[in-house]
Amino acid sequence: MNQPLTVEQVCFFRDNGYLILRNVLDQALMARTRDAWWDAAPPELRRDDPESWVGAFADSRFTWKYRERSSEPWMIELLYGNATLQAVARQLLGPDLETPERIRGIYCVFPDTDATARPARFHVDAHAFHLGVVGYVDDVPPDGGGFTVWPGSHKDFYHFFKTAYTFNPVEERKDHWDTDVWRTVLQIEPVHTYGSAGDVVLWHHRIGHGAGHNRSRQVRQAVLYDFCRADLKAVQDEATPADMWRDWPGISAG
Ligand SMILES: [Fe+2]
Repeated sequence: MNQPLTVEQVCFFRDNGYLILRNVLDQALMARTRDAWWDAAPPELRRDDPESWVGAFADSRFTWKYRERSSEPWMIELLYGNATLQAVARQLLGPDLETPERIRGIYCVFPDTDATARPARFHVDAHAFHLGVVGYVDDVPPDGGGFTVWPGSHKDFYHFFKTAYTFNPVEERKDHWDTDVWRTVLQIEPVHTYGSAGDVVLWHHRIGHGAGHNRSRQVRQAVLYDFCRADLKAVQDEATPADMWRDWPGISAG
């Protein structure tokens, strides 16, 4: 069977914890996604008036996570059902994937009223999964609120957790910023991804990441899904394996 990722791409993902693929998503489903969230957006946001987008959802750091339609079949088709992404996930994780009932949702980042650059902040997701996908359903310019990753930090964070996939830090601190691993990752220069409608960012479940600061004048529109192996629930609370690629046959083989 033809594998969609080259050896170089697999190595890049292994070493950096993320990988950008271009022009992957279906045009019609992306258009439907844009229509869906605009239909649900509050009336003060006017699709034909870019000025109305600036500063929206300031209380939630200019982000809006629209999840209400995430279990509709066409939304699942957009990411999980995408032929390229299916093949990529199976190449990396093996043939047995969990069949989802929903995707995460449509995550929008609105233009900030203050376009002065500010330091990016990272976190590690608290829920269990294997391979994250952020898909852009509209163009995202540089500094346009793209998904931000701290390359290589998946290797720092992997052994910071007692369990393989659930969120059990080795060091129980009120403030994670006061730990060696957090200080180590702070030294890493983040990558602010950007691209065109249809591009996707693949990312490892333990990578440090965050929402980008949208200093452009357009809305960052992304769809998110987490590919999981079918055995996730059976292994998620096991002690963190010494080999961080144990459950990634496409990577240990490569
Ligand atoms: Fe996150």
